[in-house]
Amino acid sequence: MDDSNEDQRLPHHRNPKELLTMDYLADLGVLYWNLNPDNYEHDSELGKIRDERGYDYMDLLDLCPEKVSNYEEKLKNFFTEHIHKDEEIRYCFTRSCYFDVMDEDDRWIRI
Ligand SMILES: [Fe+2]
Repeated sequence: MDDSNEDQRLPHHRNPKELLTMDYLADLGVLYWNLNPDNYEHDSELGKIRDERGYDYMDLLDLCPEKVSNYEEKLKNFFTEHIHKDEEIRYCFTRSCYFDVMDEDDRWIRI
């Protein structure tokens, strides 16, 4: 990501763009699966991932301006840097999202 403090909903590509490989992300511990969101409740592939990785909790968040009264404030919370001791999992059902992580050289990477 660039170092700009502009609206965090903007893409924030470096100029020129720097794109990373899935292997690079995997080395950082970022894993990725492309699943069918229409079938998440009965998706055997999702079930297998959850079993293998010990994901035993799930909640749903519909984060869009039409459905969240304090949308802007809630959005800011997601952009506050924090650390998890366990894995953090995001399953994007509709639309799109960014997931920002820091690499070993303290550079932000936008997924
Ligand atoms: Fe988090």
